[in-house]
Amino acid sequence: MSSERATSRRRLLVTGGAVAGVTALSGCGDGSYSGSSLTTTEETDSPTEESPKQGEALARVDEVPVGGALITEGPDNEQIALAQPSEGEFTAHSAVCTHMGCTVRADGERLRCPCHNSVFESSSGEVVSGPARTALPGIAVHVEGERIISGEG
Ligand code: FES
Repeated sequence: MSSERATSRRRLLVTGGAVAGVTALSGCGDGSYSGSSLTTTEETDSPTEESPKQGEALARVDEVPVGGALITEGPDNEQIALAQPSEGEFTAHSAVCTHMGCTVRADGERLRCPCHNSVFESSSGEVVSGPARTALPGIAVHVEGERIISGEG
C-alpha cells in the first residue's frame, strides 16, 4: 500500500450497538435484522459487524449526495444504502427493508420502502415509521481516495 493511499484512508465504524451484516438479499425476500449506524473516525476498535466482501469499491464519494443517500449494489449483489449525512462522513446500511425484504429507495435524508411505506433514517438505518420495526443493519465501509470500499480497510 502506498503512503498516499494509507494517509487518505479513513475508517468507518459501527456506533449504534448491535450489528449485522449484509447477507446478500435483494428484492422482496425475508429480512430480519438489527441495526446500527456508522461514523467516520481515523482509527477504531474492531467493529463487530459483518460486511460484504472486503475491499470492493461500492461507489465514488461524489456519487453519494451530502444529506442524502445512494442505493448501490455490493460485490455479492447485495443492496446497500450509502449515506453522507455531512461532508466527508459516510455511513452504510443494508438497503433491504427489515419488514419483508423489499429494497428501499433513497429519498433525501430518508430511505423509503416502496412496498409498505416503512421509512428509515439514511444515516443511521433507524426506523422512522413502520410497519418495519427493526433498523437496517450497518455495513463496514471505508474511504480510499475517492472511492467507498467495503470492509474495515
Ligand atoms: S417490505 Fe418494506 S415496508 Fe414492507
